[in-house]
Amino acid sequence: MNKFPSVFESIDDLTIEQIRSLMTVSAQNKLRFQDRQFAPYESYRKYVIATSFLEHSTRTKHSFGLAIQKLGCMYVDFNAEKSSLQKGENIEETLLTLWHQGVDICVLRTSVSNQFKEFKSKPPIKLINGGDGINEHPTQALLDLFTLIDSGYELEGKTITIVGDSLHSRVTHSLIKLLPQYGAKIILCGPSSYLFREDSSLELSTDLEEALSRTDILYMLRIQKERHNSPEYAEIYESYHQNFGITLERLKNLNKKIPVLPPGPANIGVEIAADVLKSELFLGYQQVVNSVYARMAIVMAMLENGDKNIGHKPVSL
Ligand code: CP
Repeated sequence: MNKFPSVFESIDDLTIEQIRSLMTVSAQNKLRFQDRQFAPYESYRKYVIATSFLEHSTRTKHSFGLAIQKLGCMYVDFNAEKSSLQKGENIEETLLTLWHQGVDICVLRTSVSNQFKEFKSKPPIKLINGGDGINEHPTQALLDLFTLIDSGYELEGKTITIVGDSLHSRVTHSLIKLLPQYGAKIILCGPSSYLFREDSSLELSTDLEEALSRTDILYMLRIQKERHNSPEYAEIYESYHQNFGITLERLKNLNKKIPVLPPGPANIGVEIAADVLKSELFLGYQQVVNSVYARMAIVMAMLENGDKNIGHKPVSL
């Protein structure tokens, strides 16, 4: 098998064998740590792992924090707002400083799309993308895939409809690379101006009812208010629930049971009605449960890649 990347930026960085292996190890972790068991691996005690979130997060940051500690590694919660980044130190120097302090991996979230690309040829530290701007959110896509497999859903030949602002959605950009590798077909559904059009293999729809009739799995994106400020956005938001929101009634009107996944967080009452959250079809809380096991698997794979070409190497004069 290829070496696991030392900078995990994108689903494109993984082979299908590595993805399958992550699914297997996630399931093993779930078995070992189920029912709130705490049984750290002795071999991981020597490692130090940091999270550095330069954008807000609840799910990603805390599930990595828990995954790191459940594995038995030392956890460093790097507080970007109180760090020397605020004095103008750049991100590369910050990461090199963490590496010199003995940190093995940093999980980084940044508002800058594609920031990880600059570190791939010469990693200042091993890096995991915890979401970069509107580029990718690969660990979210992997935990979504694990949740579907773990919940008993087949993907081969199935249609997954991703509803919402796919243009600005980093998890969509990861899902459209990941799910077709398991034989799934993808429909992107939403207001026309929200649809990501750069991949011609994807079907686009502005009609939720019609798309639902062909859907086996539903993925509901959050409307990212923080990324919109045009007057058109206010108009779309006003009628969004009626046109693109999922309600229990809409689900009941289908002659099939389809699971509903959000990446979280959700604007409840906008993309997803409150009653859907209580339904057996809602997998959002299972995604949160599984996020810890999937992220443990990702950390394990990166720690074990044996890469020595990390950090600062002085240049001889
Ligand atoms: N899904 C996700 O990235 O959620 P957070 O922003 O809470 O981490």
